[in-house]
Amino acid sequence: MPGSKFGSLYSIMTFGESHGPFIGVVIDGLKPGLPIDLEEIQRELDRRRPGQSKVTTPRNEADRAQIVSGIFEGKTTGTPICIIIPNQDQRSKDYGKLKEIFRPGHAAFTYLKKYGIFDYRGGGRASGRETATRVAAGAIAKQLLRREGIEFYGFVRRIGPHEAQTVDYHFIEQNPVRCCDPAVAQTMEHYITGLAEAGDSAGGIVELHIRGLPAGLGDPVFEKLDAELSHGLMSIGAVKGIEFGNGFRAAEMLGSENNDRFHRDPVSGQVLPATNHAGGILGGISTGQDLVLRIAVKPPSSINKVQHTVDRSGAPVALSVGGRHDPCICPRVVPVAEAMAALVILDLLLVQQVIADGEKNAAALALEIEQIDAQVLMLLQRRELLAARQSAKPGMPEQSPAQQLDRIRDLAEQTGFDPAKVSKIWDVILESIK
Ligand SMILES: Cc1cc2nc3c(=O)[nH]c(=O)nc-3n(C[C@H](O)[C@H](O)[C@H](O)COP(=O)(O)O)c2cc1C
Repeated sequence: MPGSKFGSLYSIMTFGESHGPFIGVVIDGLKPGLPIDLEEIQRELDRRRPGQSKVTTPRNEADRAQIVSGIFEGKTTGTPICIIIPNQDQRSKDYGKLKEIFRPGHAAFTYLKKYGIFDYRGGGRASGRETATRVAAGAIAKQLLRREGIEFYGFVRRIGPHEAQTVDYHFIEQNPVRCCDPAVAQTMEHYITGLAEAGDSAGGIVELHIRGLPAGLGDPVFEKLDAELSHGLMSIGAVKGIEFGNGFRAAEMLGSENNDRFHRDPVSGQVLPATNHAGGILGGISTGQDLVLRIAVKPPSSINKVQHTVDRSGAPVALSVGGRHDPCICPRVVPVAEAMAALVILDLLLVQQVIADGEKNAAALALEIEQIDAQVLMLLQRRELLAARQSAKPGMPEQSPAQQLDRIRDLAEQTGFDPAKVSKIWDVILESIK
């Protein structure tokens, strides 16, 4: 089915279902010889994996990445990189009784409408489990981007009604919610565990800061940087909205409040925006400031609370989903969001490099043309000299200009050069060099 591929130069294709033998990703587009830290791929998968804490699902997946191809002795070989992640802790029988039921908030209804068949176990292809493959591909992208000075900081800004007021990057990985504010993290944690005990679930807002981006990334109109990032981030299951900078708050603001004025930066002396209400993007192109975006994540649909729905025949069903589910997926969405943003940014950087290489080739072509022009002038000079010597020698047979033109036209025809064009050039040469 279409829809499993993402990216143009750094491109990925993910495959696998939640309850199949494994899930995986094929990555293409990296040149050979790039060192890749495999442990970093695993560290990123560990940040996303289930069973990390009380606020995530107890499904216990080790999520050990196996590199099947494309990396040899720690370096890219230039061939497609394939990574698989075995599914170990499936309990497909948990889903047997759900086979005929339309679970509220789940994708079975639409998949069945579209395909007529659906792997209902654990949500099949629509499962959040698929995002592990994106995290693996994103972990490679992130390390390559770090070498360019670009870093990703994802964190939980809000859970339900509880919002972080300060941002402490160092604190993010020190609490199970991945909240950025030490004063609010525990309240968020209690809120989630309380809802889990009540058989319900919580949504929230995940924020992402991308730092070290160069100015000038992104393209106008249809391929704006914010549009490309929105595509990547909105493709994550359960993400329901996205905003950049002031985002939806900009709708309530005045132009005088929301505008980013420019100034001469006192440190670098460069002309730069003085504030960052726009979130680091203007006209779809990065300003070189921190890129700031937020995504709204819905509360997971699988809840233990009794819900009223129908089965495939339309008969009413009172359903309590059971199984092992996340009471809130925001902490696990953080590494997924970072990964998707890294896929987008690396792809754009690679495209930009190809354009820059193209410009380099154009410069080389211009140089070659310049060299040819110089050679043409030197040859004309030499021709003038020889013609002068020829006419100085008594008794040498001399061709009339008309005969010379005929000879040149013949030569032009033999070499595939346009005779009319050559005649014009030679008219001028014969006129000026007699
Ligand atoms: C990391 C991750 C884990 C998820 N875990 C669950 C879960 O345990 N229960 C659930 O109902 N949905 C979960 N989801 C959300 C579903 O994948 C998502 O709701 C489903 O694909 C339908 O897509 P939609 O919500 O965007 O319409 C998870 C998503 C992610 C990214």
